[in-house]
Amino acid sequence: MKNIVTPTRSSCRLPVRLPEQTGGNDEAAGSSDIFNNLLDDRSNRTEPMLVEIERRLAQAGIESPRLEAQLLLALATHVRRVDVMRGALPVLCREQLLELESLVSRREKRVPLAYLRGYQEFYGIEFKVAPAVLIPRPETEILVDIALQRTCPQSNARIADIGTGSGCIAISIARHRDQLQVIATDLSMDALKIAQHNVNHILSTSSIHLLQADLLSEFATGSLDGIVANLPYVSPGEKERLQPEIRTYEPDTALYAGPDGLSLIRRLIGQAAIVLRPGGWIALEVGCGQSDSVSGMLEDRGFSAVFREKDLAGIERCVGGIKPS
Ligand SMILES: C[S@@+](CC[C@H](N)C(=O)[O-])C[C@H]1O[C@@H](n2cnc3c(N)ncnc32)[C@H](O)[C@@H]1O
Repeated sequence: MKNIVTPTRSSCRLPVRLPEQTGGNDEAAGSSDIFNNLLDDRSNRTEPMLVEIERRLAQAGIESPRLEAQLLLALATHVRRVDVMRGALPVLCREQLLELESLVSRREKRVPLAYLRGYQEFYGIEFKVAPAVLIPRPETEILVDIALQRTCPQSNARIADIGTGSGCIAISIARHRDQLQVIATDLSMDALKIAQHNVNHILSTSSIHLLQADLLSEFATGSLDGIVANLPYVSPGEKERLQPEIRTYEPDTALYAGPDGLSLIRRLIGQAAIVLRPGGWIALEVGCGQSDSVSGMLEDRGFSAVFREKDLAGIERCVGGIKPS
C-alpha cells in the first residue's frame, strides 16, 4: 500500500553554507528572531536553537514546548525528531532558518501543529490534513474498532461514514476490510478533495465511494448495513472554552451543531432508522456528557442493544445501537 503523505525532503544538501555566506535577501530575514540570533552564531548548534524556540512556544502557552520545538526543528530541516534529539543536526542553511522562523511564529499564533506538518497519524496511517478538515483525534479510532468488530474480513456489507472530513474513519476501515463497500459523505467539497487525496495515496485499490451529501439524504430505505459518524457536536456556548487551535483554525462546519450541539446527530438518527436494513447498526462519536441524550434518541427511534464505549480518559465517547429485525 502506498503512503506518501510524509513531508518531502528538501533538495538543499546538508551540511550547507553558513547564513552570512548565502547572500541575497537579508531584509527577508531581518524580522526573524531566530534568524537574527543565529546570524552571529557560526555553528548554529541544536541546543541553543531548541532553547530559544522552546522559550517562545512556552510564552505562547503551548503545553509541551520542548517536544514541539524538536518537531518544528525537524520539520524545517527535513530530518527525524530523533536526529534533533541526538543533536545530530548539520548547520542550517538560510532557507531552513527562514522556514523555521515561519513555522515557529505560526505556532506561536496557535496554528495547530498538524496543519503546519500537513499530516496527522490516525489508526497507524498518516493522513493529509489541511484547514478544510478536522484534525483526526485518537478517540475517534474507537469508531473504527467498532466497525471492524461488526464486520468479518470477508464481509461485503455496505457501510457509510457520514461527515468523513479527511476520510480517516472510512479509509482505516477499508484498509482492514477490503471487501466492504464503503461510502464516505461530507457536505464540504473542500473536505472531500482532501479525503480523495487520502484515498488515492493510502489505499491500493479503492473500495470507497466519496459523495457530497447532507447526512443520509442520498440513501434509499434499507440500503445500508452499518453507519459510522463523527459529526459536529459542540454547542456555540462551549466555543470560548475550546483551545485556540480548535476555536480559531479548525473549520466551524466540523465543530458546531445547533444550540445543544446535537442537532446533526438527532437528525442523523432519525434518517438512520429508515436507511438501515433491519439488523443494521449505527455507531456515533459524542461529546463529553452527551451519551445519555444520544442513547435516549436511539431508543426513541426504536434502536435496540444500545451500547456505549469509553475512551482512554474514561469518557463515554461512542454510542450506538441496532435497528431491530
Ligand atoms: C467532526 S468532523 C469529523 C471528520 C472526520 N470524520 C474525523 O473524524 O476526523 C465532522 C464532519 O462533518 C461534516 N458535516 C457537517 N455537517 C454535515 C452534514 N449536514 N452532512 C454531511 N457532513 C457534514 C463536516 O464538514 C466535517 O467534515
